[in-house]
Amino acid sequence: MDIARTPATPDGNPEMADAAPDPVDPALFRRKDYRPFPWLVPEVAMDFALGLERTDVTTVLRVARNPAAEHADTIRLNGDEIEPAGVWVDDEPASDWRMDGGDLIIPLSGDAHDIRVDTVVAPSANTKLMGLYASDGMLCTQCESEGFRRITFFPDRPDVLSTYRVRMAGPKAQFPVLLCNGNLEAEGAGEGDHHFAEWHDPWPKPSYLFALVAGQLVANSDSFTTMSGREVALNIWVRDGDLPRTGHAMESLKKSMRWDEEVFGREYDLDLFNVVAVSDFNMGAMENKGLNVFNTKYVLADEDTATDGDFDGIEGVIAHEYFHNWSGNRVTCRDWFQLSLKEGFTVLRDQLFSQDMGSAPVKRIEDVRVLRGVQFPEDSGPLAHPIRPDSYKEISNFYTSTIYNKGAEVIRMMRTMAGEQRFRQGTDLYFERHDGEAATCEDFVRAMEDGAGLDLGQFRLWYEQAGTPRVIARLEHDGTTAKVHLSQEVPATPGQPHKRPMPIPLKLALFDRDTYERGEEQLVVLDEAQKTIAFGGFAETPVLSINRGFSAPVTIAREASRDDLVFLAARDDDPFARYEALQELVVRQLKDAVEGKLDSEARDKGELAIGDALSAVLADGNLDDSMRGELLLLPSEGYIAETLAVADPARIHAERRGLRAVLGRMLEAEFVALHDRASAVPFSLDAEARGARKVKAQALVYLADGNPERSAEMAFAQYQGADNMTDRQSALMVLTGLDGVERTNALIDFYNRYQGNALVIDKWFALQASSMHPHCLEHVKALAGHRDFTLKNPNRVRSLYMAFAANPHAFHAADGEGYRMIANLILALDPINPQTASRFVPPLGRWRRIEPGRSALMREQLERLAAADLSRDTAEQVSRSLG
Ligand code: PHE
Ligand code: ZN
Repeated sequence: MDIARTPATPDGNPEMADAAPDPVDPALFRRKDYRPFPWLVPEVAMDFALGLERTDVTTVLRVARNPAAEHADTIRLNGDEIEPAGVWVDDEPASDWRMDGGDLIIPLSGDAHDIRVDTVVAPSANTKLMGLYASDGMLCTQCESEGFRRITFFPDRPDVLSTYRVRMAGPKAQFPVLLCNGNLEAEGAGEGDHHFAEWHDPWPKPSYLFALVAGQLVANSDSFTTMSGREVALNIWVRDGDLPRTGHAMESLKKSMRWDEEVFGREYDLDLFNVVAVSDFNMGAMENKGLNVFNTKYVLADEDTATDGDFDGIEGVIAHEYFHNWSGNRVTCRDWFQLSLKEGFTVLRDQLFSQDMGSAPVKRIEDVRVLRGVQFPEDSGPLAHPIRPDSYKEISNFYTSTIYNKGAEVIRMMRTMAGEQRFRQGTDLYFERHDGEAATCEDFVRAMEDGAGLDLGQFRLWYEQAGTPRVIARLEHDGTTAKVHLSQEVPATPGQPHKRPMPIPLKLALFDRDTYERGEEQLVVLDEAQKTIAFGGFAETPVLSINRGFSAPVTIAREASRDDLVFLAARDDDPFARYEALQELVVRQLKDAVEGKLDSEARDKGELAIGDALSAVLADGNLDDSMRGELLLLPSEGYIAETLAVADPARIHAERRGLRAVLGRMLEAEFVALHDRASAVPFSLDAEARGARKVKAQALVYLADGNPERSAEMAFAQYQGADNMTDRQSALMVLTGLDGVERTNALIDFYNRYQGNALVIDKWFALQASSMHPHCLEHVKALAGHRDFTLKNPNRVRSLYMAFAANPHAFHAADGEGYRMIANLILALDPINPQTASRFVPPLGRWRRIEPGRSALMREQLERLAAADLSRDTAEQVSRSLG
């Protein structure tokens, strides 16, 4: 179990962490309580005697009074599950230190001191994967947010910046490769069979960016010449057999480095950049200075083992972590309330990069789909929080889609309002002004105001207010004038019952219904509760295209007829708006069906309209297949649920499947023809071939509901003939949802073929847990007992249980069995890995938006969890979810 967070010192000593805890709830940290740390720590020297079972750590801090902070006669060094094995001040053994919870408090009388503290840690026993831990026989670290305090005692907060000198030593055979941040200054033989390495990182950094890796690793090595002509050595370190799967990561890294120079003017600042892939990792990857540590999932790929989606994931995450070198490392965060300062901005940067590397419209649609599928539900549920939260108990719970994805959208809106060029002036000013500092979101906004020339006064509300604004758009036609009436509502969220109107930048355009001509696109900033914009020159009511490019992260309720949506779905020149019109057409139909508002005539009419629209998409020779694949994708069950005040997951599932069956039958010949055409495109990683694989999968999915036998036959043939993972996985996905020998044979074949490749076996688990098969829940239960299943590896846990929790028809089993399984998982995983366990709470937290029967069952499981002895991570999520 976790050690409870240290309460404030009773004498009001200002030497607290990022923010002082709430006097009523000592475990609650508040943004407004920020105070600078009383001590500066300009230099840190560390010595590691490495071992899997036991690692001895010696840390020397050079400290000096912080002139910008209040005086303190002690220093508080945070610790978590460690004890001081010895304490020295200015080379004298100290005995007047004391512990306060996990923290070490040392009295200090002078203005500058050297503090040495020794600690001993047990990496193999560290199942939380925070701090120093063992993975596959190697040693690695994860320090963000508060993992460094599990290695040594330290003011573990992001506004304390230090340069680090690290000596690491250990048995050479076991740890032939010794890596740390910065540059390698010395290495050599040590005592007996030991060797050592000495690293120095010249750039001051907060402790959360510290990293160390030791193990049997091999590198894919390359180099990059920066814009000023400096040569940077690049290494991607992996286990021996994985080297052939590192090419894509290396290419992605070099592209990222070039792109950041060209688009943001950012140059890399060390002579060395290392990436290490580890198989046990709580998150995707980590941007430690000069030594990024990655989940193997975001490094390893080749066509036989990784899908096109995996390739994109690697490109995006490699870019993301690399971009952090400026947005996160050179300019870091003052405290964890500012997390979106680095994460939102860096997500935007990686999104823009990926847009430039591939199809910009498709990437935009994918990003919006993630936002609406994950962030919108978060923003409308009990865990809603602003992109700059006001309080937290456990910061790990705030690595959310809101901080990351909505944070990116907020900065994207600034870019939309400023235009690319002025936006760049804003970011240039931000980097120049705050280089080497721990900054705030407010600093970013001010740099944007000064550099980009925007007035962001009211815009700051995007940082303060949670909840997804809803915009209502109505078109009125009078004579030759078209009036667009816009109004907005920002829903109440926990702790924020009343909201103020936000500035919402909406790109809109009007189409002439007869000539199909489009008027000029306008950027309207809706900054009041209501606003009307008039457009002249329309003899007839035009068709409104709004929130083009998804210019604002809002929901739009528009009074558009079905004909208008069909019009836009067929001919809007904004790819996102076209996609959106089609989605809305389907959402309306399914919503009405679920709510019992469709008689058979209305149902037929709606189905025909959707069928016609999809048929047009299938036939449109101007579309590339990648975009066609996007347009064919039906809105997810979760997204449909989100549009309803209270959802019945079973009805949504049945209606969506039913519609797909109708469409699959209606367009059977077209889908078969599409599959045939796409199957003739030979494998390559170029856009055309990737698009072909995408539509091939879509065709199988429609046919699986429209004509299951035919789909099974086609899918099995595709499976057997596949020369790449994308085709093999999409075929297996369809087969896994169907009954028959093809299903069994393909699953056995897949397992045998990839046995021993953990990332592909993860897919094998995930495919079964996310399948459309009616017995999915039983399959998941059985898989939990499979010899390859373990709670110790987060990827494996997620591959089975996250996939299951995101599979509505299985998770929402009417008897509540799915909820019980997730609650059981949380209880079993929490003592092992609380960070990963707490991520399974949000699916249960949706109970308020689900029909009463299931809602009660979900709540029951949350209450069962609340009664258990939980980690701080999981306890916070459970209590917020019960709200
Ligand atoms: N900072 C990492 C990123 O987004 C995410 C992360 C957070 C990784 C916490 C590990 C632990 O790039
Ligand atoms: Zn990040």
